[in-house]
Amino acid sequence: MTKFSSQYFDEQQYAQSGIANYELVYGRNFISPGGKETSAQFLRLLGLRSGIKVLDIGCGIGGCVFQIAADYGAYVDGIDISHNMIEIGSQRCKEQGLEDKVKLYQGDCLEREYGTTYDVVHSRDVFLHIHEKPRLFSIIRNVLAPGGLLAFTDYCRGEGPLSTKFDTYVRQREYCLHTVDEYRDLIERAGFVDVKAEDKTGYFLEINRRELNRLAARNLNTEEADDLMRGWRAKILRIQDGEQRWGWFLARNPG
Ligand SMILES: C[S@@+](CC[C@H](N)C(=O)[O-])C[C@H]1O[C@@H](n2cnc3c(N)ncnc32)[C@H](O)[C@@H]1O
Repeated sequence: MTKFSSQYFDEQQYAQSGIANYELVYGRNFISPGGKETSAQFLRLLGLRSGIKVLDIGCGIGGCVFQIAADYGAYVDGIDISHNMIEIGSQRCKEQGLEDKVKLYQGDCLEREYGTTYDVVHSRDVFLHIHEKPRLFSIIRNVLAPGGLLAFTDYCRGEGPLSTKFDTYVRQREYCLHTVDEYRDLIERAGFVDVKAEDKTGYFLEINRRELNRLAARNLNTEEADDLMRGWRAKILRIQDGEQRWGWFLARNPG
């Protein structure tokens, strides 16, 4: 299995059982911090309008895509490397009757022939999986219309040397994390303008504590739930240590 192939994601972090577990914490259709509520909050920053075209990179099982289409009337294409995600997302899309506004595609965002341009490229907590950031941002500039908006959130890391524990966590997950300032530089170097890079770690901590408390209150008493809670407690400690951080990023394609 090649590192970062669809098989890698489908059989490791985003196996069907893994997706179901993540939904237990994030809520139906979401695999990113804060679920529906945080997604709605982030989307309010984007000035979305009816009829515009949005690309969601790493759309998962479609939570953000459905929200963009249903709440704003935008046309949304979602792409995700995981077959599992697209299979579940396509089913949920049908259930919600959003097929006229939403199209979901399986594929690697770095390899896809997009064949169109978008007014907005949106992504929630996906780029941590992508090691070739200059290539990623260059592809996004090419698919964005002139003046189009790039909007994403992502896991980041703290400044300074990292503890062995944090380094081991990042290596085990094969993540590629940056500090918020490094991310700003990468985005600017790719030629984007009006770059806003905000460290949202305080909010991230609040969200993770809330998610852990909600899960604990359900008293599921299953091995999966216990594993999840262990994972969330470890994440909260990494955040409190200042090593795991969270960034929100907005940038414009010039033109
Ligand atoms: C943490 S999940 C976020 C899912 C979704 N954005 C959400 O908010 O619910 C990360 C997603 O990125 C996808 N992904 C990772 N690398 C990718 C790539 N190169 N191209 C497309 N999708 C990718 C994974 O399969 C996974 O669904």
